[in-house]
Amino acid sequence: MSFSTLFPTTRRGAHTARHTAERWLATYLPPERDPLTPSFTDTTSLLMAKLAANAALHGRVLGRRARLALTLDESAKVLLIEVTDGRGDRLPIQHPPTESESGRGLLLVEALADDWGVRPHHPGGKTVWVLCRR
Ligand SMILES: Nc1ncnc2c1ncn2[C@@H]1O[C@H](COP(=O)(O)OP(=O)(O)OP(=O)(O)O)[C@@H](O)[C@H]1O
Ligand SMILES: [Mg+2]
Repeated sequence: MSFSTLFPTTRRGAHTARHTAERWLATYLPPERDPLTPSFTDTTSLLMAKLAANAALHGRVLGRRARLALTLDESAKVLLIEVTDGRGDRLPIQHPPTESESGRGLLLVEALADDWGVRPHHPGGKTVWVLCRR
């Protein structure tokens, strides 16, 4: 099963795309029972938010929208999140941990994802992808 939405590279655009994607995903996932343990939904929502925010903040190109795409396998156990933006000349850079308020997004991605990476997107731009197993 797959889902995809284009969004303007603004805070609001990223926010709306993430919520639309969350609603799509919720229709395929079984209910989660333990309210105290971070759920697959919590983890994947955070990852979508971080990637979409980065596309809006760091990947914006005038006149180009970004894309958030989800692919869920048949058993609903593996989710691929892909966020494509128009900037091929700037890539995610993992900062070493500091006291700084920003620069933590990719550290979270690294910690929470089963795998992640970046690939070029033709004719211009890149796709940041994250794989999550339930
Ligand atoms: N989609 C992107 N396009 C271009 N550069 C990116 C992209 N995503 C991340 N980067 C670069 O990688 C750096 C680290 O990203 P990260 O998400 O960890 O931190 P941040 O966005 O600066 O702050 P935070 O996510 O904590 O609010 C960014 O400062 C930016 O330079
Ligand atoms: Mg960020």
